[in-house]
Amino acid sequence: MIQKPKGTYDVFGEYGKKVKELEKIMNALMEKYNYEYIRTPHFEASELFHRGVGETTDIVSKETYDFIDRGDRNMTLRPEGTAGVVRSYIENKMYGEAINPRKLWYYGPMYRYERPQSGRFREFYQFGVEVFGTNNPMMDAEVISIPVNFYKLLGLKGIKVNINTLGDKESRDAYRNALLEYFKPHLDTLCEDCKERYSKNPLRILDCKVDANKDIMKNAPKIIDYLNDESKSHFESVKKYLSVLGIEYVVNPKLVRGLDYYTHTVFEVEANVEGFGSQNVLCGGGRYDHLVEMVGGPSTPGVGFAMGLERLMTALDYENINLVEHDHVDCYIVPMNTNDYSFALMQDLRLNGFSVDMDYMNRKVSNNFKQADRLKARFIIIIGEDEVNSNILTVKDNHTKEEFKVNTLDIIDFLDEKLEDCGCEEE
Ligand code: HAM
Repeated sequence: MIQKPKGTYDVFGEYGKKVKELEKIMNALMEKYNYEYIRTPHFEASELFHRGVGETTDIVSKETYDFIDRGDRNMTLRPEGTAGVVRSYIENKMYGEAINPRKLWYYGPMYRYERPQSGRFREFYQFGVEVFGTNNPMMDAEVISIPVNFYKLLGLKGIKVNINTLGDKESRDAYRNALLEYFKPHLDTLCEDCKERYSKNPLRILDCKVDANKDIMKNAPKIIDYLNDESKSHFESVKKYLSVLGIEYVVNPKLVRGLDYYTHTVFEVEANVEGFGSQNVLCGGGRYDHLVEMVGGPSTPGVGFAMGLERLMTALDYENINLVEHDHVDCYIVPMNTNDYSFALMQDLRLNGFSVDMDYMNRKVSNNFKQADRLKARFIIIIGEDEVNSNILTVKDNHTKEEFKVNTLDIIDFLDEKLEDCGCEEE
């Protein structure tokens, strides 16, 4: 039997309902924040990710799905959303438009050839935002507030916000040199990956899981001591604005993130629940004031985040949060040799805003009642020859078990009224 590719999964049933509910909440939240939806291609020229995400990152050096298309072009399935959105911002000259800052949000699948494990997939979904055109630290705080408020809306309690700063280019370069100097005499005590990081991106030595508990790591220079005044003041403002928004956070000086494009603020929100597992980072992001330029656009500051949907789903399960409320149909139609009439009525009801299903299996009446219960139907409409001839429908309230005779012309008003009375009308 052909099976799904390793590191992928199918969405259906209860999981599917929960995903759809999450998407609804996400849409509504982004409307409240006044962000604009953007969708970019699932594959891009490979060069974009080399320039945009960084040659030295694991994502680009080890994890991309690359292919050569039939026109001999090097293409890559997007491993993350930021680079594509930056490309689109530049290509569509959004920097020249009056809307500033430009606040964009996206949702879709990303692809990384990682070793699959719990919370780590090869195809996974990210919800993210990218904001262009302002270096106001208020915007860093706004971006951090989005996932925090999203988790709050969902009722998730066990979360921890970690923040750090990498400073501007000058501060970051000074820090990089300090790390090179510090680790040089201890190189042989570090793991193989860290030896490689030393030459490519020494900041990443700091988030090594293997060497984390060694004294050499604990005593490493801290970025805070290498920040110039401007970088310090930016970070102080971000912290102040987070407090203004009532967002609790922890400053974690080891947080450097796995992508090369960050400057100033970086942050991650982790699931702070016992036994959650090692893949507990629910989302991450930060500021990237040079990325637009690096990809070929005019110098434009940017800040954003992305969250993985799969880890969020696990976190919701851990806290027994069930999002699915509208898990029923308004009407279930039972046609008794009246398929044409019933089918047309169903169409009419659906177009008038009701959720409706009907029997396609020629079930016996008693089995149809069972099916209506399975679908959690609020009303059952039974349609036989008599109903067709008289245009008077038999409608059963499946909650109260009351039966009504309703003229076909009045059925929409009748359902509207009843559903409103019980408060089960859809928004
Ligand atoms: P990232 O930290 O690579 O950042 O990914 C963001 C989130 O995507 C992670 O925190 C995690 O929840 C989820 N994620 C990443 N890889 C996997 C995987 N293999 N399986 C399941 N979930 C995964 C970025 O992608 C940046 N583009 C974020 C950003 C936007 N920074 C600025 N703007």
